[in-house]
Amino acid sequence: MNDEKAEVHVNDIWKLLHPRLTVLVTARGKEGNINVMTVSWISIASWNPPCVAIFIAPERYTYQLIKESGEFVVNVPTIDLLQKVDLCGSVSGREIDKFKEAGLTPISSLKVKAPSIKECIAHLECQLIKEVETGDHVMLLGRVIAARANKSQFSRTYDIRSVKLVYYVGNSEYTTNSNETYHP
Ligand SMILES: Cc1cc2nc3c(=O)[nH]c(=O)nc-3n(C[C@H](O)[C@H](O)[C@H](O)COP(=O)(O)O)c2cc1C
Repeated sequence: MNDEKAEVHVNDIWKLLHPRLTVLVTARGKEGNINVMTVSWISIASWNPPCVAIFIAPERYTYQLIKESGEFVVNVPTIDLLQKVDLCGSVSGREIDKFKEAGLTPISSLKVKAPSIKECIAHLECQLIKEVETGDHVMLLGRVIAARANKSQFSRTYDIRSVKLVYYVGNSEYTTNSNETYHP
């Protein structure tokens, strides 16, 4: 292997930490309007209490809806939904109804008013508990108050032999997980 290093422009350093698991975040505004947005910058933030952090730009329509309601849902798509995932990350819900345009089905969540997405395989229902400005993005810390997953695809972990998740590489390129597991 040639291990000669090349300098990476600071504006591109985010790509050094990709591919990343990519999710669909849903929200409902105070007038009942719902929206869905693609998010790659997401992390588990605490095990107890269970929290996730999403990093989103304040100009996103989803940000406005989350601020209005104090809630959001993290939905986990599989690679067969790639076109829909890409669409939800390319246009704003201010312009179109992305559920309709992408052919995604909103279903009731267990504990929050924000919808879950039927076609996704897992759903983490979150209450917004903290917001931190990080630069051109904002970290929204959500406490997970309910979660569900498809029985056939998740039991203690995802069955990655059959489940193919979506990972964003950068530059409009996506990948998925292999079906191999390793036990060190
Ligand atoms: C694969 C992918 C990942 C993205 N990840 C994020 C992200 O983590 N945070 C963010 O603010 N925008 C992210 N975006 C951009 C938003 O999804 C995009 O601006 C979207 O149109 C915002 O929708 P909204 O205005 O309806 O909320 C991503 C886009 C793509 C295609």
